[in-house]
Amino acid sequence: MWIYLNDRFVDDANAMISVFDHGLLYGDGVYETIRSYGDQIFMRDEHLDRLRRSADAIGLRVPVAEDDWPALLNEAMQRNDVGNEQIDAYIRITLSRGVGDIGLDPALCPTPTVIVMTKPLSPPPPHQYQSGVDLIVAKTRRNYPGALDPQIKSTSFLNNILAKREAIAAQAFDSLLLNWESHLAECTVSNLFFVTNGRLRTPSLACGILDGITRRIILSLAREEAIRVEEGAYTLDQLVQADECFLTNTTMEVMPVTSVNRGPLGTGKPGPLTRRLHQIFVTNRPRFLQA
Ligand code: PDD
Repeated sequence: MWIYLNDRFVDDANAMISVFDHGLLYGDGVYETIRSYGDQIFMRDEHLDRLRRSADAIGLRVPVAEDDWPALLNEAMQRNDVGNEQIDAYIRITLSRGVGDIGLDPALCPTPTVIVMTKPLSPPPPHQYQSGVDLIVAKTRRNYPGALDPQIKSTSFLNNILAKREAIAAQAFDSLLLNWESHLAECTVSNLFFVTNGRLRTPSLACGILDGITRRIILSLAREEAIRVEEGAYTLDQLVQADECFLTNTTMEVMPVTSVNRGPLGTGKPGPLTRRLHQIFVTNRPRFLQA
């Protein structure tokens, strides 16, 4: 496997970073997970934009020029024989503060570390889309935006990992995290939607969530279809009493949720609006691909 590390492609045996990298020492870095459909990258520029926004928020310079990213991502796919007609690509970009002496001052690290990894994308198994997945509500709360804003896609991922550990212990698909006010926030790697009386609802960005790129697309496609859409602050009770629920992210697209905290949600089967929105997403996907 070829990995782009700082300024060149190296094979995985040589893809080493220093123990002084502040990404390792302090979780001081940002990342993006991107995917391709065939050789086309889904919402490439939006992901690169979010990477830049995350980097800006922590005062980190992106060491790759904007115009150089498309060719770099294409080479990263081609070298590993992914992102072609046979195999969709999973692409992970990581930027860290870089190598420097121990200490919090970012000035200790003159050069950011940049890593681009690609591999075959493994989508969730079909049975999860057919039956829906189950969530538990984590005891771990989503990060308070005034402390570490979830809109920064940070490599400090312990908040999400602690919630994931709770899901694993409960043998659930994933954890739903509430925010500091006990409002619904998001899951460990996805955004949350639910449907009540035909209205599509999702926690607003002000609830302290990642501005998910799939979330944005679902919101705009739903509006195009004249589906009533609301972004707001919602309680767990509102979710439990909802008719349908689903999750969105880059690799899952639209994943139905059919159970929360062991109780069935709605009919206990993937809902009609969930299925319709996934279908609309798939039909419109070509609009969001970039070569
Ligand atoms: N996760 N919320 C969180 C906390 C996430 O980490 C992600 C993405 C999302 C969905 O964002 P998008 O639609 O842009 O993929 C929401 C990716 C898949 C990851 O961490 O690997």
